[in-house]
Amino acid sequence: MAQILDDISRTFGEFLLVPGLTKKEHIPANVSLKVPISRNGKINLNIPFVSAAMQAVSGTELAIALARKGGSAFIYCSQGIEEQARMVKTVKEHKAGFVESDSNLSPQDTLADAVALRKKTGHSTIAITEGGDTHSKLLGILTSKDFWEFKDDLSRSIKDFYTPLDRLVFAKEGVTLQEATEILWKNKKECLPVVDTQGNLKYLVFRKDYFDHKSNPDELTDDKKRLFVGAALNTFDYKERVEALVAAGVDSVCFDSSDGYSEWQAEAIQYVKKKYKDSLVVGAGNIVTKEGFLYLAEAGADFVKVGIGGGSICITREQKGIGRGQASAVQEVAVARDEYAKKTKSYVPICSDGGLNMDTQVIVALALGADFVMMGKYFAQCAESPTDKIRYNGRLYKPYWGEGSLRARNWQRYRNSDRPELFFEEGVDAYVPYSGPLAEKVDTTVAKIKATLCNVGALNVKEFHEKAVLTRVSELTLVEGGTSTVERLERVVSVE
Ligand code: IMP
Repeated sequence: MAQILDDISRTFGEFLLVPGLTKKEHIPANVSLKVPISRNGKINLNIPFVSAAMQAVSGTELAIALARKGGSAFIYCSQGIEEQARMVKTVKEHKAGFVESDSNLSPQDTLADAVALRKKTGHSTIAITEGGDTHSKLLGILTSKDFWEFKDDLSRSIKDFYTPLDRLVFAKEGVTLQEATEILWKNKKECLPVVDTQGNLKYLVFRKDYFDHKSNPDELTDDKKRLFVGAALNTFDYKERVEALVAAGVDSVCFDSSDGYSEWQAEAIQYVKKKYKDSLVVGAGNIVTKEGFLYLAEAGADFVKVGIGGGSICITREQKGIGRGQASAVQEVAVARDEYAKKTKSYVPICSDGGLNMDTQVIVALALGADFVMMGKYFAQCAESPTDKIRYNGRLYKPYWGEGSLRARNWQRYRNSDRPELFFEEGVDAYVPYSGPLAEKVDTTVAKIKATLCNVGALNVKEFHEKAVLTRVSELTLVEGGTSTVERLERVVSVE
């Protein structure tokens, strides 16, 4: 006879937090959102966010932007091993503050070429190199101060206008960011080219990036000060894949499976853990029960992902009748994690994955016991996600599709059938509203989480877990919490 669980499946929107005593020390500036991503907190995230291992989400640009804010991306594995390893390498090689010049011309090009390039890239500093490319011999720099777009004859060649190298301040490869910043500051310059021993252009360092760097105090790096990055694995080609990812410098891997409570996954975790021990964080999942958690923790997982069927593009529940309300799953697994920690002295962090549509849901996920959250849609909406913006009916959108959709055709993850013609989708292909740069979005969510922790009287996520008191809400309470009895200004204005 089938067993029916006592409680119904609950979701985050059904809960509200009840405030606790806020002491004077409970101010956002004192709150730390540092959370563990590996057993017993040997490795931590500086903010409790990771991005989903999805084609429409975790590309290199997003991985860099998220690590700079203190979280981590998981580069998707629905691609070839070499391509994925190359993406990891790009993130690891990213030198904060050292930019590869994307605006380059040769002295034979014209001012009109410079104007066109400036329009295309939006950058006003153009490196003049022998071959007109990123890394050939640097001859000088052309900026908007060197010519007047509406006065000079734009058909003239750049060679008469750019500032040559002998009149420029530049540095040799090997200079540290701190040294480069000092040079910029002492010489009152906006941009410092960095060249190798042959005089080839390597990087540009900009004054404005120094301020940017200062405004990212939570940046997540490895012990060599390179940005932290994760990557997904599947249970089919993991032996080969993990080797390539480790060679590329990956810090953390995570098995990407819609149902991780399986012997395949236990075997794969054991293999990877045995090979790389504590030098590599190994995440596992997804599961939605205590039993699933214990199974993967016993297999050696460093963290376990919770969630089946809650993702915004997910149709797993619809297609297969499998899943569980995300709040019920997180709550049950959090209890199991704490019992396991008490028994084994091994704290295995849990990650709530999928269905986080609003900042309040992130907050409730953490309150119910998640150590950190994985988000797909949230990051797909950002400027740094790998897709292009499109305009529809006057609004900007970005494409977003599930890894189980036809578009992703993630054969490794869903290759569980020997009858490929019977393939069915577990995800949809969709569009999500564009939300702008990641940094601004993350800053807002972080500010809200910190404010809520203060309301509850907690200075960190661990204390939040211990002190959070939640109440279930009725439908009428939801209405009461909304603004349905007044006409919101933005609606009145848009009607006019
Ligand atoms: P979101 O943050 O609600 O958009 O959910 C993202 C999560 O959905 C991912 O981290 C995956 O766990 C899950 N997911 C990604 N692609 C699919 C799919 O095609 N079907 C079901 N779940 C998916």
